[in-house]
Formats: sequence, structure tokens, C-alpha cells
Amino acid sequence: MWRHVYKDLTDATNLLSFLILLSPSTKIFLSSTAFPDSNPYQRKMLTTHVALAGASGNLGLPILDMLLNAGMYVTVLSRINGNSSKLCPHQNLTIKEVDFTSVTCIASALSGVEVVVSCLATLAIGSQNPLIDAAIAAGVKRFIPAEFGMDSQNPLAAQLPVCAPKVATQSYLLDKSMVSNYDDNKEGFTYTAIANGMFLDWGLKMGILVDLKRHTATLYNGGHVPFSATTLADVAKAVLGVIQHREQTENRVVYVQSALVTQNQLLRYARDKDGVEWETVSKSTEEIRKESLDELEKGPEAADVEAAMLGFCICGMWDVEYGCDFSAHLDNGLLGVEGLGEDGVRNLVESFL
Ligand SMILES: NC(=O)c1ccc[n+]([C@@H]2O[C@H](COP(=O)([O-])OP(=O)(O)OC[C@H]3O[C@@H](n4cnc5c(N)ncnc54)[C@H](OP(=O)(O)O)[C@@H]3O)[C@@H](O)[C@H]2O)c1
Repeated sequence: MWRHVYKDLTDATNLLSFLILLSPSTKIFLSSTAFPDSNPYQRKMLTTHVALAGASGNLGLPILDMLLNAGMYVTVLSRINGNSSKLCPHQNLTIKEVDFTSVTCIASALSGVEVVVSCLATLAIGSQNPLIDAAIAAGVKRFIPAEFGMDSQNPLAAQLPVCAPKVATQSYLLDKSMVSNYDDNKEGFTYTAIANGMFLDWGLKMGILVDLKRHTATLYNGGHVPFSATTLADVAKAVLGVIQHREQTENRVVYVQSALVTQNQLLRYARDKDGVEWETVSKSTEEIRKESLDELEKGPEAADVEAAMLGFCICGMWDVEYGCDFSAHLDNGLLGVEGLGEDGVRNLVESFL
């Protein structure tokens, strides 16, 4: 499947010159541009209309809840015959099934939308360019791509095959933003990528950080590496924060975490609660990186690509050289992400025992 991810990326990049010609003339300016303030970001918008792609997923669902609870209008973009039937109806929610390869089809679903949030599955992260092109054609102002993980600004992380499509998407977004039509009275097309480290609650539930049900864990680089981790609810808060602080978050990566934790700390909280001894094995992330590269070497048909990608995620998330500790450059305050505190993390661990 990853073969298609990279192919889609290449195909979409070929649209660049066409879109440079197209985008300035096809902008649809929203009613909010009629407000008189000279700084477009200072115009007060009563309700933001957001489009959310991948709303039925692990992260999409909490983001959808957060946006609707904040009183926003949400258009969900779902694949044709996708999973959108599992979404609960809401007066501010519209669901549109689209062909994610067709710029025209997606653009017609984005009429009146100011912000697009892409929560597409990891296997689809290399295929976001038609969604970006459609957003530009429809006059969308801010695009939040499917990123939501390791620090893609870190030169080592950026080279990992799981991160490279995200870096390419950011670069595409920046190029598009540069050719977008700026002047004092128009807010051009911009993007914000969100780096949140590991999904903390999801990672505990799935047994990826440590397996709290079986009391087993693979301890990476000794288990004492501090890494940034964020609950799905806090990632959703960060998305809302970006929408509410568009000027301060323009064309950059923002960093959030619910907590900075270590695997050993998570184990200790579990032991404190139930006293059960853990079975652990140790592994270096460099070992895992090499194994994952070897796996990919087998070729797209034979390789276990998902396992390899998880291996690359582990490298990015548990190695300080890959920038897994965001605490020196957090945007929590700006985006309203309060974090958990030690008791909060302890309670979260206990809730999965
Ligand atoms: N930091 C972490 O620990 C971590 C962990 C997991 C994921 N992530 C990141 O978070 C983002 C969202 O991931 P997620 O786990 O929430 O995604 P997910 O649950 O696997 O999928 C989200 C949605 O994407 C849509 N989709 C589009 N193309 C798809 C395809 N080819 N296969 C399957 N679904 C497809 C589906 O919605 P419809 O059926 O409605 O179209 C699906 O419900 C990604 O950027 C991912 O890399 C981060």
C-alpha cells in the first residue's frame, strides 16, 4: 500500500504548475472578508466552518466532538462507502462522501469552508495533495495536515520513511502558501502542522507504550527516555487552538504534549497500583530502525509495511536525537492545552489496568 502513497505524492506534485496558474483566479472570498479591520486575522468570525477529513478515525472522532462542542459548523469529508455512517447526527454537522483523488469533487464539497483538518489514516498521508489543491480552489484559509506525531522538523526524524510523506506534504503546503494571493485585506492560504508525540491514551490502550493488560513491555533505549505524549482529547484541543489562533500559528509546526513521560515511569505507576511484576525485554531504537529498513527491502509485495512503519515511529518517539522531547518548545499555553500532571498520568495508567 505504501507504494501507492509515494506514487500519489509524485502524481500530485505534477499538478503544481497547473495550480500556480489556477489558484489566484479561483479563490472564493468568504463573507468574513467584508469585515472592516485591516488585519484579516483580527476580523471576528461568529462561527468557523471547518471541513474534517477522516472524522471516523481514532483521532478524527475526538476532533469532531471538540469542534461541534465549540459551536463550529463541520463538514465531514468521507470516502465513498467509507466509515462515516458511524458518526452521530448533529445540527451543525454535514457529511459529504468524496473521491479523494478528484480535486473538482472535493472542492465542490468545500464551499464556504475556512479551515480544513486532515485526519486521514497513516496509509493515506502521502495522498493529501488533491485535498490541498481543492482547499485552495475553494478559498480555504488554513489547512491542518495529517501529521500528529513525531517532530518532522528534526533532520533525523524527517528521513524516516513514516515521516517523509508528512515532510513532503508540509513542503507542498508551504509552496502553495507562497503563491497564494496576499495583500493587506486578504488572508491567503496557510497551513499549520501539529506535533504531539505519541498518542498517550491510545498508545496505552493499544499496548504500544507498555502493555498494561498483559504486564509486558519492550523497553526502548533502556525505558528511561523522556518522550512527549498527548491524549487524543488534548490533540483535539490543539486543533481548536490553532483554529482560534490562526495568526500565531501560520505556516509552522506547533508542538503540544499532555505530559513528558518515560516507559519506566508508566510501569512504576502500574506496579504501585496492582503490585504485579512485569516481563520486559530491551531493545535499542537503532536496532529497530535497521530491522524496519530490512523489512522494507523485501519490496512492497513481501514486506510487512505496517510493522516497518510502526518500527520507524518507535525510532522517532523514543530517541532524544530524533527530538522526542518537545518540552523546550511547547505551544501548550497558546493553544489551551493544559496537560495532565503526574497524578493525571498515574490515573490514566490505572484506568487501563
Ligand atoms: N502519534 C501517534 O501516536 C499516532 C498514532 C496513530 C496515528 N497517528 C496519526 O494521526 C492521524 C490520524 O490517524 P488515525 O489513527 O486517527 O487514522 P485511522 O483511524 O486509521 O483512519 C482515519 C480515517 O481515514 C479515512 N481514510 C482515508 N483513507 C484511508 C485509507 N486508505 N485507509 C483507511 N482509512 C482511510 C477513514 O475515514 P472514512 O472512512 O470516513 O473516509 C478513516 O476512518 C495520521 O496523521 C496518523 O499518522 C499518530
